[in-house]
Amino acid sequence: MLTRETVQEILQPLRDPETGKSLMELQRIRDIVVKERTVRLSVTYRSEDVRASLEAQIREILEAMGAEDIHIRMRPLDNAVSGATREEDNDREKLTKGHAAGMEQNTLLSEQSGVHFIAIASGKGGVGKSTVTVNLAAALARQGKKVGLIDADIYGFSVPDMMGIEEGPSVTEEGVIHPVERFGVKVMSMGFFIRENSPVIWRGPMLGKMLRQFFADVAWGDLDYMLLDLPPGTGDVALDVHQMIPQSKEIIVTTPHATAAFVAARAGAMALQTDHEILGVVENMSYYVCSHGGEKDYVFGRGGGGKLAETLHTELLAQLPLGAPDNHPSEPDFSPSVYKAGTESAGIYDEIAARIAAKLEESV
Ligand SMILES: Nc1ncnc2c1ncn2[C@@H]1O[C@H](COP(=O)(O)OP(=O)(O)OP(=O)(O)O)[C@@H](O)[C@H]1O
Ligand SMILES: [Mg+2]
Repeated sequence: MLTRETVQEILQPLRDPETGKSLMELQRIRDIVVKERTVRLSVTYRSEDVRASLEAQIREILEAMGAEDIHIRMRPLDNAVSGATREEDNDREKLTKGHAAGMEQNTLLSEQSGVHFIAIASGKGGVGKSTVTVNLAAALARQGKKVGLIDADIYGFSVPDMMGIEEGPSVTEEGVIHPVERFGVKVMSMGFFIRENSPVIWRGPMLGKMLRQFFADVAWGDLDYMLLDLPPGTGDVALDVHQMIPQSKEIIVTTPHATAAFVAARAGAMALQTDHEILGVVENMSYYVCSHGGEKDYVFGRGGGGKLAETLHTELLAQLPLGAPDNHPSEPDFSPSVYKAGTESAGIYDEIAARIAAKLEESV
């Protein structure tokens, strides 16, 4: 199957005939957009001599991979900009090699951008990180904040489905990606670029590159908040995010069960070790409200969230009840996982959003 990643991989060996450096690493091959069998990309070439052969080579490689509709934009690297571009090349080399310093080029990630980054983490899977991320994002948007959401769970992306997003992002001629907006939240996910439910298998360094692309090539516009739905655990993606966004704060999600909280403490410990402030703990699936007496039934035990907050020297932001949103697929704003404004759960998310806004915006 053709994906942007496979195209990047397959073009990796192509080199600038003059310097011998990888064109991909120099970011001379950019703006790669893959949709089904259509591939678009742009190439910056140094001299007219290499132009035709470069274009032919790329075409041949892509056709061999099964691409049918290939659009290549050739852009000259004129002398007027080549001096600056050489510096740019250096920066880009730094960037692709994963040096955080290179990221200063990126306005969204710069300290001056004023965007509050919040990563939602947990020790183990299935505790509700993604649910918390999408609902907190929607709640912040209800409060008039400009919110972006990156589904950084690139192996197990779930955000598009959870929010009921059916369309993909639009891509301009220049290869700029416009995020999909849903419930007032701008969303970007690997799920938009991968067809069907095929599993994603990548090498470690690819993950970081993908994330960087989400920052660099997406037109986020003005943002107050950027939420990141992390994959479970303390693996390489979580670490990448830590390194890439040192200013990111964290919310740790757990269930009330003691072992879940114990495991989540590891994610918290990583945040602390990497100097990421923990905004608080969200305890999800805390209780079940009995539909008859309205009594709370603590089906998964009690106290995990409170204990975890204590361990991490932070606060317990909320306890959320069990219960899926009561949304109907026939409604235009249907989503399987976003609680509608006015419901009990949405109200709790509104409180978390207000608390976080108060916490972060007073510190500016
Ligand atoms: N409060 C809740 N009540 C009922 N179901 C919930 C609640 N929170 C989450 N769920 C459900 O539990 C499942 C796991 O939630 P979710 O996908 O948000 O967890 P996750 O931590 O992101 O998982 P993963 O580690 O796989 O990314 C989903 O099916 C979700 O709909
Ligand atoms: Mg998830």
